[in-house]
Amino acid sequence: MKKKKISSVAVLCSGGDAPGMNAALRSVVRTGIFHGLDVWGVYRGFSGLLEGHLEQMNLRSVANIIQRGGTIIKTARCQAFFGKTARAEAAHILRRKKVDALVVIGGDGSYAGAYQMSKENNFPVVGVPGTIDNDVFGTEYTIGFDTAVNTALESIDRIRDTASSHDRVFLVEVMGRASAEIAIRVGISGGAEVIVPPIEMNKLNVNQLVGKLKDSAHQGKLSSIIVVAEGLHPGGAQALAKKIKDTSAMECRVVILGYIQRGGVPSALDRYMASCMGSAAIETLLKGELATAISVVNGNITPIALQKIVGKKKKMNLELLKLGQILAS
Ligand code: F6P
Repeated sequence: MKKKKISSVAVLCSGGDAPGMNAALRSVVRTGIFHGLDVWGVYRGFSGLLEGHLEQMNLRSVANIIQRGGTIIKTARCQAFFGKTARAEAAHILRRKKVDALVVIGGDGSYAGAYQMSKENNFPVVGVPGTIDNDVFGTEYTIGFDTAVNTALESIDRIRDTASSHDRVFLVEVMGRASAEIAIRVGISGGAEVIVPPIEMNKLNVNQLVGKLKDSAHQGKLSSIIVVAEGLHPGGAQALAKKIKDTSAMECRVVILGYIQRGGVPSALDRYMASCMGSAAIETLLKGELATAISVVNGNITPIALQKIVGKKKKMNLELLKLGQILAS
């Protein structure tokens, strides 16, 4: 890996926003300035970068944001960044501003873009994992996951009240795209009767699911909460409710938690992890690394080469799904 001397860095947020991104930004800015670097904030992710929307940050630029959800420098999903020309243009814009390295706070798609840009243009980048989905390969934790899970849980606890008052079955759909991380964590912590991982609707064994609900009812559980991962088709819980009705005549109420999980005050864990990871990103760049990601491995913050991460999928923990089943009995 080539070593590069850094005296100026830029930082951006990319992909879906996540609570704690502001805390990560604050940490990057303040750690950078502590080390004598010029720090630039890029507005609206890679899209803003391609438009040259950079502003120099100072210590006060990030004052009073650690407790705020969302991201003050905004974020975006940038289609153009899938192209090599756009990535070369981004590196060119940064060099023209005399920026030596880029910190990218985002998920696996953002990591892929950052890695390609670095490799093609020999430009130092470091990724800080920021997504509620906790689906980035190579790290046990991503910023925003804890807050999103707690937000979903608060809703589930409320739904539980009305479910048990009416002896009803609720399907509660949580975010996470192709990942089951939020569904599993929320399902276990909320005592869900069933956790449905991301699965194509036509592959789901609805008879088995209905069988489980009937067993629960025989055991005296007159209300149930089924946590459904949104999978690649948000709103899939509606289709599942229809299938259950068609199979068994059982009525299920559907709640899609959606974007509520992305907002709100970041939890202590998210603020803390973001603070540690943002700082580690700067330290890593100062060591001269070209393309790394700040990860959590065995509970420790560990930089890993982006090359080892990009293109790989985090595996679903089947043991936890099993635990969910055991505890729901
Ligand atoms: O990746 C975070 C996430 O909230 C996913 O859980 C969800 O599927 C997706 O973003 C929604 O994306 P968008 O904000 O582009 O609608």
